[in-house]
Amino acid sequence: MTTTRLDAPLKVTGRATYASDHTFPGLAHGYVVVSTIAHGEIESMDVTAAKGSPGVLAVYSPFDPLELRTPSTAFLGETWVPLQDREVGYYGQPIGFVVAETYEQARDAAMLVEVTYRRRPARTSLQDGLATAEDAPPAMDGSPPSLSVLADGVESIEDALAASPVVVDATYRTATQNHAAMEPHSAVAVWEDGTLTVHSGNQGSDLQAQELANALQVDPAAVHAVNPFVGGAFGGKGRTSVPAFLAAAAARALGRPVKAALSREQVFTATAGRAATVQRITLGAERDGTLVAIRHDSWSSTALDRSFVEPTSHGTSREWYSTRNLAISQKMVPLTISPTTFMRAPGEAPGSFALESAIDELAVALDMDPVELRLRNNSTAPPGRDLQWSSKHLDECFAIGAARFGWADRSPQGHTDGDWLVGLGTATAMFPALRFPATVGITLRDDDTAEVATSGADPGTGLLTVLALIGAESLDIAPERITPRLGDSALPSGGMSGGSTATASTGTAIMVAAPKAIDELLALAAAPGAPFAGRDVSYADGRVLADGGSMTFGEVLRAVGRASVSVTGSSAPGEEMTKHSFSSFGAQFCEVRVHRWTREVRVSRMLGVFDAGRIINRKAARSQLMGGMIWGVSAALHEGLDVDADGRPSNADLAGYLLPVNADIGEVDVALVEHPDTLHNSVGARGLGEIGIVGMAAAVANAVHNATGVRVRHIPITIEDLLVPPVRGS
Ligand code: MOS
Repeated sequence: MTTTRLDAPLKVTGRATYASDHTFPGLAHGYVVVSTIAHGEIESMDVTAAKGSPGVLAVYSPFDPLELRTPSTAFLGETWVPLQDREVGYYGQPIGFVVAETYEQARDAAMLVEVTYRRRPARTSLQDGLATAEDAPPAMDGSPPSLSVLADGVESIEDALAASPVVVDATYRTATQNHAAMEPHSAVAVWEDGTLTVHSGNQGSDLQAQELANALQVDPAAVHAVNPFVGGAFGGKGRTSVPAFLAAAAARALGRPVKAALSREQVFTATAGRAATVQRITLGAERDGTLVAIRHDSWSSTALDRSFVEPTSHGTSREWYSTRNLAISQKMVPLTISPTTFMRAPGEAPGSFALESAIDELAVALDMDPVELRLRNNSTAPPGRDLQWSSKHLDECFAIGAARFGWADRSPQGHTDGDWLVGLGTATAMFPALRFPATVGITLRDDDTAEVATSGADPGTGLLTVLALIGAESLDIAPERITPRLGDSALPSGGMSGGSTATASTGTAIMVAAPKAIDELLALAAAPGAPFAGRDVSYADGRVLADGGSMTFGEVLRAVGRASVSVTGSSAPGEEMTKHSFSSFGAQFCEVRVHRWTREVRVSRMLGVFDAGRIINRKAARSQLMGGMIWGVSAALHEGLDVDADGRPSNADLAGYLLPVNADIGEVDVALVEHPDTLHNSVGARGLGEIGIVGMAAAVANAVHNATGVRVRHIPITIEDLLVPPVRGS
């Protein structure tokens, strides 16, 4: 199928209502006060002037906090809530909340809050912290931070590397990033008869409701989280946001609806972002390119709360290549920086910059084509595991990509076009295929329409449309007759739009629910007194069929006096996990042009070819993958949050934090090899939300090397990095 998103007309005409578009009679406005030091303790906060400022209703602080406690939920663990102590762990940390009659009054009053700190030194250098790094917590699958797989008779990874005829050893660095989603984190909270309704963009409405109920210590049934539209998330709205906690608690305390939104600058500090990494990779190979050993040691920055470690080596080298010997480690360096969290392809995105750059360096060392080198080491299962990939067509991705991109014309020395040095680069992309437990409700209505509903969220991925398409297929009716519903915690629990899981999770649940709905319909149709009483009935094309006649399901419902039939269906990962390994795969290609005199880098063309199982909506899939690839270019050439030695970010806004604009992005081409993976789930679809970013930064860096002969081992790559010899053709 290729379908325009059902919510597209609402979005492009501005009729889609996001969290802060909501207003209520008596609405009060909150403004978050943030710390102006990176590390220390708040000694005092003088709020006298703020409280006396026009329109101010309340000023909350650690000295006069809102009633909140740290929520702990099964899916997300603990989430930090503001104002509960006087510790400051990073610059721009929420430390107060001013509520007033208008937004401007709240903001003005917030500027009058005087804070006295007892400062402690900031710690912002990942490099300086390497020597005292701590072991990361166990990986998501429970494996320890350091692990190795060694061939029989091999004593250590060092021995395996020493025995390798060709060795490449290099250290790579990736920058801190902010999600910077279009919709800043915001919330409108209303209490009515002891029940809280919160409008706040989030990746899982029922998960948000659980966190809020837990933080406010109220019955989960008393919290209703609504987020039909979410203006971007990427992991940055996985947890309940600071404005949602504060608005909910202040609305309860004041007995009025409260709205709170972070300013754009506050989004850079008062949320959570991607950790910076340092990664050392050593590859050992035979002269024919066969990998003998991979060693991948990774250090990730994290906040003082050790909130999240970027699983770079676990996310890449652990699984990507066939190798007899493997050793990976994962360490963390706590710094006085904003919390770290999962961000689109956590681990795989920065990890693939390192691994896929190193593979390119090995190809250069071997004087071998980088595509050929990758295919020579194509794996049938992750190293050291006997569970084969359920369905892997990476070779096909590379074959299609190489032909379509004109890879055969690539010279190992690049080529020139006037004053432009032109290079081609490639990289592998992988992202694990996961799914989470999900429940979906299906309602057949007497007007011949059906509702497909799950709580979840569509953070711009196109999940709403996926519900309609898989619902239509499962009920054998046209998609126009499906009303999909999403983004409401009162609906059956759909879990989180995260981990590239939502299509597989909710799609499988739809395929469980639909036959139940049909069975119930058939039972009604054949019951005594019903139109097909006592007859053999079946279902096709939205109709109940029996010998000599048929009726639409709406006609049947009307005939038996029922307005609707409702069922739920649930699915969760199960036995398949013991039988196969699951991943999506891709081959990234890009062409860069480096100007001989200015050394500016332009990405003129890129192509991603992806193997993500069955594709439900080609148009949305293409958009997702393109978006990821563009973000990969952003990581390679633009993005990075700079933190000064005193802990203050120096570019925490969209003027200083560079992102690619249209003029930075040339041709983006996406191709899909569509092999349904029904070993993973009955829909046959694997995740594709995150894989688009994976490998792209390396493909750009590899193309820069091809064009110029300069190997840049950090991202973002800047003009300064290329103001060095050797630049070819000059
Ligand atoms: Mo996203 S990092 O899958 O929430």
